[in-house]
Amino acid sequence: MLHMLKKNSFIEEIIQLIHQATLVSHEKISPLVEIPPKAEMGDYAFPCFELAKEMRKAPPQVAQEIVQKIGRSSRFASVAAAGPYVNFKVDPSRFYREVLSAILERDTPYGSSQTGAGKTVVIDFSSPNMARPLNIAHLGTTAAGAALQRIYSFLGYRAVGINYLGDWGTQFGKLIAAFQRWGDQKTLASHPKPVLYLVDLYVRFHKEVETDPSLEEEARATLLKCEQGDQQVTDLWRRFCAISHAELDKIYQRLGIEFDFVDSESQYNAVLDDTIENIRRRGLARESEGALIADLEKFELPPILLRRSDGASLYSTRDIAAAFDRYERFHFDRMIYVVGSEQRLHFQQLFALLKEMGYPWADRCTHLALGQVTLEGEKMSTRRGQVIFLDDVLDKAIDLARKIIEEKNPDLRNKEEVAKEVGIGAVLFNRFSQRQNKDIVFDWDRALSFEGETGPYLQYTHARACSILRKAGMKKKKIVGEVFKYFPDWIKKWSPTPPAIDWTLLGNPEEHDLIKLLDRWPSLLESATWQNEPYVVARHLLDISAAFNKFYNLHRVIDSAAPSLQSARLAIVSATQHILETGLGLLGIAAPQEM
Ligand code: ARG
Repeated sequence: MLHMLKKNSFIEEIIQLIHQATLVSHEKISPLVEIPPKAEMGDYAFPCFELAKEMRKAPPQVAQEIVQKIGRSSRFASVAAAGPYVNFKVDPSRFYREVLSAILERDTPYGSSQTGAGKTVVIDFSSPNMARPLNIAHLGTTAAGAALQRIYSFLGYRAVGINYLGDWGTQFGKLIAAFQRWGDQKTLASHPKPVLYLVDLYVRFHKEVETDPSLEEEARATLLKCEQGDQQVTDLWRRFCAISHAELDKIYQRLGIEFDFVDSESQYNAVLDDTIENIRRRGLARESEGALIADLEKFELPPILLRRSDGASLYSTRDIAAAFDRYERFHFDRMIYVVGSEQRLHFQQLFALLKEMGYPWADRCTHLALGQVTLEGEKMSTRRGQVIFLDDVLDKAIDLARKIIEEKNPDLRNKEEVAKEVGIGAVLFNRFSQRQNKDIVFDWDRALSFEGETGPYLQYTHARACSILRKAGMKKKKIVGEVFKYFPDWIKKWSPTPPAIDWTLLGNPEEHDLIKLLDRWPSLLESATWQNEPYVVARHLLDISAAFNKFYNLHRVIDSAAPSLQSARLAIVSATQHILETGLGLLGIAAPQEM
């Protein structure tokens, strides 16, 4: 029998050894570790250029010193300096045994850990403005926020997901004013999708204001009435919010996203005076042209607006109040705002003010600035009625998936279910296929392509692995160990793991390369949290898939003439399947067993 292993992966071991030799942080070392292109150069390499710059030494000297300090490591066959590199060589059969056993034998999902135990991360994501459906521009924050929440939680953090709904402010003044002018209750009540009626009114407002600027004033007055609790206006506001809530619930359900808290801007209205008072007391607020502002010159930022000259409250002030409230509630170690890069200045100002007010936790706040999603080169805008609703994108993607399945695998059981999983997976993965700060021009063909580096490609590779395991007579069983909050259902492994594997039978270049990538999984998950970047996970899944397909195309796994080799190769397939399913799950994408 294989024995239970609770060891680091080999890459983690390298990171640890270099950390001990240089005292440089894991966070800095981890992304530098390379898998060299040629096997003669070792299995892993650590280039010393960056450290050398910091230490003001020549890279080869740094490499020598690291090798000397490491001395002999029991885990590696050799550790040697080669010019500016430290090269690590593994003992192959030991490597295969340890890596694959670690993946297959634990009763926890591979890569999960307690790294973040005792730490709390608050993630503000999706957070749409209400009275309109989610559109394709919300895809980034919604998909990335949910993925980060799952990844953090997988690493043992308490990850609190907050949807902070924009249910207050100018846009409501405009919408209510528009409704009072042109809308009617009957049409709203009988509309098949009432939120679209609200969108139409909003678009009309922006069209008409071009010729009738007095509308702007009307909207401001309406908002003020809302702030003062005017019955009629407040009733409309409540009605519009309820309509949007129902609409949002549906789409989050489709995407499989649940929030821990659904907060909203309006819930902070009651504490805005106190918030402003708190800032004033510290001598940080001053009147300017009738408005109230806080100077941030020290930070080379324009002043942050706390109250408008007409007395109306502001997005920025509500965010200050919300930040206090969240600190009180969660005592977070990190708070991440997953919000478009067009709000960069807002968050710089917010964090600067918190710092100026003397809150030590101000530095724990991060704005994850997402790239914009544009439609054929133009910025999307609900105002101009120029949006692609996310619901429609999902529908179209599912239709396309259905057609492809019908062509390729018409006998598939639960076709409809798989079409949904593939369609939605394609849309989500599209966002993860690039770093988040990159702008994306939304393009149907690219988003829905089922070839190349896409979600369906990963799902297909995964299904292929499942089919091999099925053919070998293995069954899927739930891991009984830890239960993870966000994904109790999908963590499973195939069993039984073949007993007494002869690891010396493995070792062709395709197997070797694939197993190295499998070993890298835990350290990449950590990297994804350091960078707050689900792309890191997506990229690695693509690499694993490419390596798996290469292996699979060149080598036979099911082979009754060579049962021992079959067992050893099945261990590779099973481990790959497990990581692909886990990784897709972390990204919010289903991994069907057949497609
Ligand atoms: N509702 C805002 C918008 O759609 C985003 C809110 C982001 N979160 C925050 N705490 N400011 O632009």
